[in-house]
Amino acid sequence: MNNFEYYRPTRILFGKGMISQLSSLLDKAQKILLLYGGGSVKKNGVYEQVAKALEGYNYSEFGGIEPNPEYETCMKAVELVKRENIEFILAVGGGSTLDAAKFIAAAAKYEGKDPYDIITEEYEVKDALPVGDVITLPATGSEMNGNSVISRASTGRKAAFVSEKVYPEFSIIDPQTTFSLPVRQTVNGIVDTFVHTMEQYCTYDVNTPLQDEWMLGLLRTLIQEGPKALAKPEDYDARANIFWCATCGLNHFMSLGCVQDWATHQIGHELTAFYGLDHGQSLAIILPRLLQNQKLSKSEKLAKLARNVFGVEESVDLKAAGVAIYKIEEFFNFIGMKTHLADYGIDAGEAAEQARKALAMRNVKLGEKGAVTADTAFEIIRNS
Ligand code: NZQ
Ligand code: ZN
Repeated sequence: MNNFEYYRPTRILFGKGMISQLSSLLDKAQKILLLYGGGSVKKNGVYEQVAKALEGYNYSEFGGIEPNPEYETCMKAVELVKRENIEFILAVGGGSTLDAAKFIAAAAKYEGKDPYDIITEEYEVKDALPVGDVITLPATGSEMNGNSVISRASTGRKAAFVSEKVYPEFSIIDPQTTFSLPVRQTVNGIVDTFVHTMEQYCTYDVNTPLQDEWMLGLLRTLIQEGPKALAKPEDYDARANIFWCATCGLNHFMSLGCVQDWATHQIGHELTAFYGLDHGQSLAIILPRLLQNQKLSKSEKLAKLARNVFGVEESVDLKAAGVAIYKIEEFFNFIGMKTHLADYGIDAGEAAEQARKALAMRNVKLGEKGAVTADTAFEIIRNS
């Protein structure tokens, strides 16, 4: 097991009716910014519950954060934060709204020339406004991590920053808020959580049996609970289990001491940046082909997954690994997720060339062994 350090200061309030606790978490003396997306929170009653909890508090609002939050939109919110001396940002909505809140929080305290610096790899965030959230979409795990992914249409770049300074102070998770999710977003969330777990689990063994059990258990739970929520959107227990999977899927706890991958996400972000695919859709297209491409070096973990998650009895690792990849794609298709670029009318050859150019410019060496170069990504996408 590799060395690790873990720090996670986020208070989690999980369960039915928890939004009513919001006022006890906020400081009346602080000026708050209530941040939300395109309006789902106004349709499903979440905004109303939040507004009720905020009665008597001093707050302003900023709505219109888009899925795959845009840098330019975030910068408009930063102007408002500065103009109104906002001291706390409350994100209400999906991962995009929360990621935007984290960026806005860091940009409000940024003192250099170009706030886009925050999203570049070399920059370290020195300070940020405090952030809290009512999260309404189980997918990103943003409610318990320090990550934020920001897109910029003008440059065609979608990139992430990571900082301890933007860990949410608290996250309120009421699974009932997810009853209103469109099927597409429920499926996106299941796939995103599945792939987060895969990227932390499916590398090579460094003797972490406990972590492996947690991660394989999460995959089994998703396979069991996902279809229940799809069949019955108001199945509270299924929604609750899926949400907790999503949160644990990327609070980085399960994989402490393990070797990680993240190539599927990096390549997927390129597809979203070029073609506007949903984050979950991009991952479902790339993961099976990436696993196929890297099957040899991942075969031990893939074979363990095949046996533990899918009950495969094949004793030869490489053969079992192939079955695992097939079963994963079959699960994605079973819950209604498409897994090929052609399903979205995208030409795989063209997409592969676009991504190769972008990744080559950054001279990437992705994956747990740095084996996924721009040329490897080209092969993976061309086969997708
Ligand atoms: O914008 P509104 O109107 O709120 O509607 C949203 C949006 O259209 C809707 N929605 C959210 N909750 C709902 C709901 N509709 C009905 N009922 C609800 N309860 O769903 C749509 C998608 O929302 P979005 O926030 O974009 O989805 P998600 O949570 O999947 O976030 C995706 C973004 O997170 C990034 C992705 O790249 C993408 O930009 N990621 C963030 C990560 C992180 N912070 O750790 C890690 C992930 O790997 C990912 O990269
Ligand atoms: Zn993701």
